[in-house]
Amino acid sequence: MVIVFVLNKRRIKMTNKKSQQRPGLRDVIAGETKICLLDETRQDFYYRGYSIKELAQKATFEDVIYILLFDDDPLEERLSLQSQLFLHRDAIVNTLRTQNRNAHPMDILATLIRTFGNEVYSLDATEDQESVEKFALSLTFDVGYLAGIMKRWYERRRPLIMPEIYDSVAKNILYQMKGRKPDEFEEHLMDLALILYAEHEFNASTFAVRLAASAHTDIFSAIVCGIGTLRGSRHGGANENAMRIMLEIKNPENVRKYVNRFLKTPGARLPGFGHAVYTQGDPRVPIIKPWVKELSERKRDTRWYEIALALEEYMAERAKEKNRGIPANIDLWTAPLYYLLGIPIPFYTPLFASARIAGWCAHYLEVRHNPKVPILRPRAQYIGPQPRPFLS
Ligand code: ACO
Repeated sequence: MVIVFVLNKRRIKMTNKKSQQRPGLRDVIAGETKICLLDETRQDFYYRGYSIKELAQKATFEDVIYILLFDDDPLEERLSLQSQLFLHRDAIVNTLRTQNRNAHPMDILATLIRTFGNEVYSLDATEDQESVEKFALSLTFDVGYLAGIMKRWYERRRPLIMPEIYDSVAKNILYQMKGRKPDEFEEHLMDLALILYAEHEFNASTFAVRLAASAHTDIFSAIVCGIGTLRGSRHGGANENAMRIMLEIKNPENVRKYVNRFLKTPGARLPGFGHAVYTQGDPRVPIIKPWVKELSERKRDTRWYEIALALEEYMAERAKEKNRGIPANIDLWTAPLYYLLGIPIPFYTPLFASARIAGWCAHYLEVRHNPKVPILRPRAQYIGPQPRPFLS
C-alpha cells in the first residue's frame, strides 16, 4: 500500500510538468508508416508514393486497395480471394433482421462487421499474416457492399440482397443501393470518392485502428474501433451534417445570414470546414469540385453546388477580416455529390467507411505483424485532486 502510494506520488510528480505540446497531439509523431505521406505545403498527399492527383485521374479504387494493402503487389492468390461476405450472407441477414431501424447506419455497420468477423474468425482462428491479409482484403471489398444491403433493409426493399456481384466496389455499392446497375458516369464518381477517402495518414479513426492493432486485437475488432471513431461529427460524420445545413440554407442568397447565425454559438464549427492538418486547403477539394459541378449540370440541379460554393466564398471573406482562413474540407463536396447520386444522408458516413476501410486495413497490417511496434500507451498529465485519505 505504502509502496503504491509512494509510486503514485512519484508518478504524479513526473506527470505534473506542464506539457509544451499543442493540444490534440498535433505536433506528436506517433509512429512510423510507409502507407501515406501528407504534404501540407504542396497541398498534396501520396499513397505509398503515388500522388492523389495522379491516382484520381488514372487509378480505380481496386488499384488503390492493392497499393495500400500490399504496396501494389497483386499476387495471383490475392486477386482470386476478394469477397467472402457473400458466403456468409445468411448470418449477416439474420443479424440485420434483429436490428432497430432507428439506429444510425454506422452503428448497424459496426454490428454487421462484428457478425461477419464472428463467422470467419473463431476462437481458434490463426492470426498468421496470410490469414489476416485474407480478412483485410475481404473486408475492403465488402464494407461498401454491406452499406448497400443496409440501405435496402432500412427501406424494406426486396430482394434484400441484389443477386449479382461485380468486380468494382463502386458498382456494387450503387447496384445494392439503387437496385439497378449504375451508368458509367455514376460509377466513376463513386469510384473517385472512394479513392479520395481511402486513406489519410494518422487521422482519428485510423489512429484508433492502429491503437487497437498495437494491442494485438483481431482485425474485425480494430475496424469496429475505426467505425466508432469515424462516426463522430468532427470526423466522418461531418459529410452528413454538411448536407443537412445545405438543406436548411435552401439557396445561395441565404448563406451569409445562416453562417453568421450558426457561428454565433460559442464553439460552433461549420461542418465541411477546417482540418487538423491542412491550413491552406484540403487537396481533395480541387479534385472533386469540378465533378460535382458536372454532375449538377447533368442533373439540372445546380442549387447544392452553388450553396457549397457560396459557403466557401463567404468563409474566405470572413477569414480575410479575421486574418485566418478556415478552408473547406472534402466533406463539404462529397455531401452534394452523394445527394445528387440519390444516396440518403445517413449513408454518407458509411460510404466514407467503405473507402477508409482500405486505409484502416493497411494500417492494421502494418502494425499487427511488426514486432517492433510496441503497444501504444501514452501517459496523462494528471490534473485531479492530490492523494487524500478516504474517510468512510
Ligand atoms: N467552423 C468555424 N470555425 C472553425 C472551424 C469550422 N468548421 N474549424 C475550425 N475553426 C476555427 C475555430 O473557431 C478556432 O478558432 P479560435 O481559435 O478563434 O477559437 C480555430 O479555427 C481552431 O479550431 P479547432 O476546432 O481547434 O481546430 P482543429 O484543427 O482542432 O479542428 C476540425 C479540426 C475538428 C476538423 C474542425 O475544423 C471541425 O470541427 N470542423 C467541422 C467538422 C468537419 O468538417 N470535420 C471533417 C474533418 S475532415 C475529415 O474528417 C475528412
